Amino acid sequence: MTTASALPDALSDTARSFAAGPHRLLIGGERLEAADGRTFETLDPSTGRPIADVPQAGAEDVDRAVRVARAAFDDGRWSGIAAAKRTRAMLALADTVEAHADELAELESLDNGKPVKLAKRVDVALAAEHLRYFAGWPTKIAGETLPVAQPDMHCYTRKEPVGVCGQIIPWNFPLLMAAWKIGPALAAGCTIVLKPAEQTPLTALRLGELALDAGLPEGVLNVITGDGETGAALVDHKDVDKVAFTGSTAVGREIGAKAGRALKRVTLELGGKSPNIILPDADLDVAIRGAYQAIYYNTGQACNAGSRLFVHSDQYDDVLAGLVEAAGAARIGPGLDPGTQLGPLISAEQEERVRGYIEAGKAEGAELVTGGGARDGDGYFVEPTLFSATSDDLTIAREEIFGPVLVALPYDSIEEVARRANDTEYGLAAGVWTRDLAKAHKLAALLRAGDVWVNTWSAGDPAAPFGGFKASGVGREHGREGLQAYLENKTVWVNLA
Ligand code: NAI
Ligand code: MG
Repeated sequence: MTTASALPDALSDTARSFAAGPHRLLIGGERLEAADGRTFETLDPSTGRPIADVPQAGAEDVDRAVRVARAAFDDGRWSGIAAAKRTRAMLALADTVEAHADELAELESLDNGKPVKLAKRVDVALAAEHLRYFAGWPTKIAGETLPVAQPDMHCYTRKEPVGVCGQIIPWNFPLLMAAWKIGPALAAGCTIVLKPAEQTPLTALRLGELALDAGLPEGVLNVITGDGETGAALVDHKDVDKVAFTGSTAVGREIGAKAGRALKRVTLELGGKSPNIILPDADLDVAIRGAYQAIYYNTGQACNAGSRLFVHSDQYDDVLAGLVEAAGAARIGPGLDPGTQLGPLISAEQEERVRGYIEAGKAEGAELVTGGGARDGDGYFVEPTLFSATSDDLTIAREEIFGPVLVALPYDSIEEVARRANDTEYGLAAGVWTRDLAKAHKLAALLRAGDVWVNTWSAGDPAAPFGGFKASGVGREHGREGLQAYLENKTVWVNLA
């Protein structure tokens, strides 16, 4: 057990006191230890030192949380209230998140390692925006009256909440991914058992408390902490109607298979190896800055990282020189240090994986243009790393690395680059940098990816669907489609004869 005083000096008293614990499962308004008393440590990736002990929920705790969520669903305390009341409660939660922005950003930075400024500007701010966007939906969820052929038949549809949702989130954007998932579920009238990643449980636990403070009825949002075993128990629970998952493609496949067998509703947001294409007519300065951000933002730990950079042979050397200069200027350090631009990786395990890919790149003959090293001292730091390669078949050009490692590849024609960009099992995102409108739209249509960005990267909005083609996922989050994933359609026939 760590004491509050052992945590980094940069923390405010509020964040420090929450981080130190004691932490409990949040089930139906109660704060509980795991039934068998097990705990695990969450670590500060900037130092590798423990932050606090967190309960490791087992099957018994999962069952308890699901029962509580089921009771809260069945008695209508959430789905049965006026839609406008759900809106008000969700707006109150968004306001509460915003009112605690500094604390949440510090907790995220401590637990995940990301720069605290970015945590506040991106993770916390967007979490509030997503909740606010979905807060607008409850009063707009409506069925239709259908002009059916039979005479004297009144036929209409109802949109009903899918029920109890098991939501499993990753460690790269912990609070934001939680908001992406609870927003549409709450709007639809569902109840939730939310499981944050074992590496980053703190902000989800705080979010669960803030939801109660904001007036969400007890049992509507339950938060249980634990690892993959806890996640698997949640997926397996027979009383979970829908599973929503963001994380690795391997686990996503397993969850998809289980959901298929049990015929549960499921949405999956998985990995990527997203191509970023600079056309010869692009504004190169803008494209280089964009390509840099596309891969190194969040230390490369983003499902939509632009990890394959295709550059026309004529500009290849100039683009690589620009990237090397930017990478050399990057300030790498602990997330809580206000000057940090690039934080550590999440864990020793991820550092080892990423280093393994860097070694594979060298061994398979890619040219290491810059980076590849560590930073002195503790913590899981990897420098922004750039490889140049000519073959699309290298391991580093095919597999998701999930770290600050970019592979640049030269090309000569648009047809060639479109084909090579699509030659991947993934299809989450793609980028095109050009000033030629016709080429931009042609490539946007050709690229097999859930998001195509033109002269930008990672643009997003709660109203704009997000998700993957192919092995990058199933279903979409955000917007009307994101909401629909939490609704069942019912058709009602009334014989008026
Ligand atoms: P992971 O897929 O194991 O973990 C993500 C979440 O799933 C965590 O909450 C974890 O506890 C849970 N989980 C793990 N096994 C489960 C199971 N069998 N059933 C239900 N839930 C389970 O990902 P991990 O091991 O943390 O990272 C490995 C790789 O996954 C990364 O290197 C990266 O390539 C990818 N990843 C992708 C993310 C994305 O945003 N698409 C986010 C995190 C990781
Ligand atoms: Mg894992």
